Amino acid sequence: MAILPVSKEYYPDPERYQSIEYRRCGRSGIQLPLISLGLWHNFGGVDPIENCRAMLRTAFNLGITHFDLANNYGPPYGSAEETFGKIFPKDFRPYRDELIISSKAGYDMWPGPYGEWGSRKYLVASLDQSLQRMGLDYVDIFYHHRPDPDTPLEETMGALDFIVRSGRALYVGISNYRPKEARLAIQMLRQLGTPCLIHQPNYNMFDRWIEKELINILDEEGVGCIVFSPLAQGILSNKYLQGIPTDSRAGKPVTFLKPENITPEVLEKVLKLNQIAADNDLSLAQLAVNWTLRQRAVTSALIGASRPAQIEEIVSGTMKSALSGDVLEKIEQILSA
Ligand SMILES: NC(=O)c1ccc[n+]([C@@H]2O[C@H](COP(=O)([O-])OP(=O)(O)OC[C@H]3O[C@@H](n4cnc5c(N)ncnc54)[C@H](OP(=O)(O)O)[C@@H]3O)[C@@H](O)[C@H]2O)c1
Repeated sequence: MAILPVSKEYYPDPERYQSIEYRRCGRSGIQLPLISLGLWHNFGGVDPIENCRAMLRTAFNLGITHFDLANNYGPPYGSAEETFGKIFPKDFRPYRDELIISSKAGYDMWPGPYGEWGSRKYLVASLDQSLQRMGLDYVDIFYHHRPDPDTPLEETMGALDFIVRSGRALYVGISNYRPKEARLAIQMLRQLGTPCLIHQPNYNMFDRWIEKELINILDEEGVGCIVFSPLAQGILSNKYLQGIPTDSRAGKPVTFLKPENITPEVLEKVLKLNQIAADNDLSLAQLAVNWTLRQRAVTSALIGASRPAQIEEIVSGTMKSALSGDVLEKIEQILSA
């Protein structure tokens, strides 16, 4: 992929807040853009920084005010935060108060018993490292990245409360928590006086687990919901219909999307969904993201990207008319077949 040179000076588009809609995050004071940008892939130490910069600028120019990171995004671990820390001072420091920047801890980050899961020791140390890598005084949202079966929930939630009270984060969230443990964590945080702002689960046409229970719990509790991998890591686009491109996520060596995930059964559905998208003047990627946003309890769809044009395409899709009942029914038939 050719990386175009990006000009040194960055002047964000003055019209940026006209490009996208915002939704209230649960019953909080925060609104998030319908589309948020995650830095899990394509922002690591192995990726060209000019492309990273171009994607972040494109996103912000389109009114995407939320960038999502984690301690272990890369590769190598930590390097997505370092990349962000290199770009932030020149491009985004003047706009710090227009941005919601999040990070997380929960997965393995450094060796030994204090380098993963949910102890107070790990969470506080990890956030301090993240702040240093990003060159920030605080993050807007700090998440516990995955539930810890062994650490008492009181300790993990107590650590999140401490993190807010100590000024390291403005809000906290949980990610990958199943319904029962999510409800408990939300109630515990409320009692501590640090309400849970948001939950970050995965959700897309091929993985609908949150519909059964979690989404209603979040709605009832007044907690926002930002859904990750709305494109099923890119499967819900037309890119794999003619094989696996070498510059795609499934075509690259160190990713969580393997060629064997793209089975003939999956492709058969993708082909049919692609036709529905075309019939409605949408790309499949736009259809897939808008489908997640049909749920009013979903605050934001958290996409990834490998190039700026993908972000432009997704944001422009959100400005098209809502999916009709008829279209939703046709999608339902394909997914349940
Ligand atoms: N909390 C958690 O445990 C967790 C786990 C996973 C992710 N996340 C968060 O969620 C974010 C998004 O995850 P994800 O990257 O898996 O999301 P995704 O949006 O499902 O997949 C992103 C990939 O889809 C492809 N894509 C994006 N726009 C496209 C378009 N317009 N047309 C065609 N293809 C397009 C690109 O693939 P190519 O690279 O092939 O071009 C891109 O890398 C992450 O960055 C991270 O912040 C959180």
